[in-house]
Amino acid sequence: MRIDHLGIAVESLDSARAVWEGALGAPLGAVEEVPQQGVRVAFLSVGESHLELLEPTGPETAVGRFLARGGRGVHHVAFAVPSVDAALRALAARGQRLIDPVGRPGARGRRVGFAHPSAFGGVLVEFVEAP
Ligand code: CO
Repeated sequence: MRIDHLGIAVESLDSARAVWEGALGAPLGAVEEVPQQGVRVAFLSVGESHLELLEPTGPETAVGRFLARGGRGVHHVAFAVPSVDAALRALAARGQRLIDPVGRPGARGRRVGFAHPSAFGGVLVEFVEAP
């Protein structure tokens, strides 16, 4: 298993673009809206991993509420797994809470699924399936 990406909550993709592209010298990819998660996202490659900048599409979305609570910055850690459903099932079998009982469509055409933060000591964890 490896870290696929870190999700970073931002107020504005346009403002964040200058910060991250400038700092890392790598271009931000195309902006994509993920309606199921209420975000517009753009990825930036860092070696074999990525940063996912997340801009909420409204204040009542999960990322919108995260920002409203003062939670700018790292929002989730995403692990690449062979099967999102298997990863979620394994957590559930250990009695852990899930946000997604099964995988769903995510950014970049990948299947994704989120565990509840309580499953990882308060850290929101996403599983991303290889294409
Ligand atoms: Co993510």
